[in-house]
Amino acid sequence: MADAVSSRHLSKTYAYRGGSTVALEDVSFDIPAGETFGLIGRNGAGKTTFLRIAATQLLPTAGTVTVLGYDVAHEERQIRSRIAVVPQESRPLYFANTEELIVWYLRLRGMDRRESRRRANGVLEELGLEDVRRRLVSRLSGGQRRRVMAAMVLASDADLLFLDEPTTGLDPFARREVWGAIQRANRERRTVLLTTHYLDEAEALSSHLALLEGGHLVVSGTREALRARIQLPYRVTVDGTTGAEELSRYGTVSGFGDLRLVFAREREARELAQLALARGARLSLAPVSLEDVFLQLVGRPLDEGPEAESAEGAA
Ligand SMILES: Nc1ncnc2c1ncn2[C@@H]1O[C@H](COP(=O)(O)OP(=O)(O)OP(=O)(O)O)[C@@H](O)[C@H]1O
Ligand SMILES: [Mg+2]
Repeated sequence: MADAVSSRHLSKTYAYRGGSTVALEDVSFDIPAGETFGLIGRNGAGKTTFLRIAATQLLPTAGTVTVLGYDVAHEERQIRSRIAVVPQESRPLYFANTEELIVWYLRLRGMDRRESRRRANGVLEELGLEDVRRRLVSRLSGGQRRRVMAAMVLASDADLLFLDEPTTGLDPFARREVWGAIQRANRERRTVLLTTHYLDEAEALSSHLALLEGGHLVVSGTREALRARIQLPYRVTVDGTTGAEELSRYGTVSGFGDLRLVFAREREARELAQLALARGARLSLAPVSLEDVFLQLVGRPLDEGPEAESAEGAA
């Protein structure tokens, strides 16, 4: 299948008075058409920069990005009519009520009145926004506004949707509703580029993922290929009362805060769990998740700041 987005040796440097920041460096990967693609990485990794370049809001410094077969640097007009974007920092227009705003957005994209109303109704129901359908957007809560932004884009007929942290600040129920709408868009064979700090969300929604770290691509591939990178399929979490040296007999040890993570094979995981239980330590045992894959790749949790001590060092 064709790729919806292809990035080749993409670099972006922000230049400003008194300095410059390299936000992306030599980033190459593809987003297959019809898939949901999760772009993850800690704060400042370059996710939004990538998304804005692909959405033709920002030009690359070097390299190329093609979107739906068009070059972002020269063919932005062709791209813009086929994409829809929820920016990370966004406020919907305040003068309209929720339903009017969604209909207005769809009409602006060229949809006829009836279809716009039909889709607006559908998405209001899908995202649990029926109660606020007639409320002015200026009177909505922060999370409701965020959902309205997602609703506009998810109701559109764009081939490619860019969602920059669409669920940040949403309650757990609202998050699940947005997940459902993204999955629906995906069933309609539309392509979704999603950034998120919730790795469970990235794992649940994305068939393909890429991890950025300091503007570099660390890894990209299918969810299954990324999971398969883990040689040690179980994670035992124990509190800090057991020494790292002793733990390392059972598997690979990482640690942060008071917790130690041991990645282990099944037999060693069981043995360690029994030992920890016998000592009255607090523990949990679980199959590894994508979060663990990334933890092993970058050596520390993604929600830890860049200055934090690395997990390897702490272990
Ligand atoms: N307009 C700008 N001018 C200068 N530097 C910028 C600008 N926008 C972003 N940066 C810098 O570029 C780097 C990448 O930022 P970007 O917003 O792409 O990160 P991100 O992965 O989206 O982070 P977050 O998870 O916090 O949203 C950061 O170091 C940031 O400070
Ligand atoms: Mg961002």
